[in-house]
Amino acid sequence: MTQAEMGEMHAPAHAAHDSPHGHADAHVPVFTGARRKELDELFTRYPTKMATLLPALWIVQEERGWVSSEAMAEVAELLELTPAYVKGVVSFYTMYHQHPVAKHFIQVCTTSPCNVCGAEDVVNALLRHTGCEELGVTSPDGKYAVFEVDCLGACGCNTPLMVNEKFIESVTPDTVPALLASLS
Ligand code: FES
Repeated sequence: MTQAEMGEMHAPAHAAHDSPHGHADAHVPVFTGARRKELDELFTRYPTKMATLLPALWIVQEERGWVSSEAMAEVAELLELTPAYVKGVVSFYTMYHQHPVAKHFIQVCTTSPCNVCGAEDVVNALLRHTGCEELGVTSPDGKYAVFEVDCLGACGCNTPLMVNEKFIESVTPDTVPALLASLS
């Protein structure tokens, strides 16, 4: 089963406004109130509206947990870009989710240097303690999904991982339960 299909099965609550199918629910704009103010402030700090695209997409993902086609269209209109351009950027960067994901999106570095220091054992402990059982599969409660990724740029801190945008280093199988318990 693909990540996209799993995402559709376990869409988190914050994704409720945007249909994973892109047509069923009316899109509720992201950029209203404080979020619109944030965007307006970005416009003052960057030379062009286009230059604010990456931080604008981060705002969408923080707000909704993923970036739907409808949200891409909203960003395109506000930044005076085409939806196709925005889609191209979103699909280029793997950190933007194009489908609903688990609340805690866990990425573990299993590239060789981390692997020889025990990353595989950390992955197995994560799969066991989250109930995910398999890589890329969202846990039955919708809270966790575990992915193996390439170098996170912290090769001296084995084993490093990321939970959403938060970086955590020196994880061992023994510290996995406390790490999971610390996630809200
Ligand atoms: S190889 Fe794991 S962080 Fe670089």
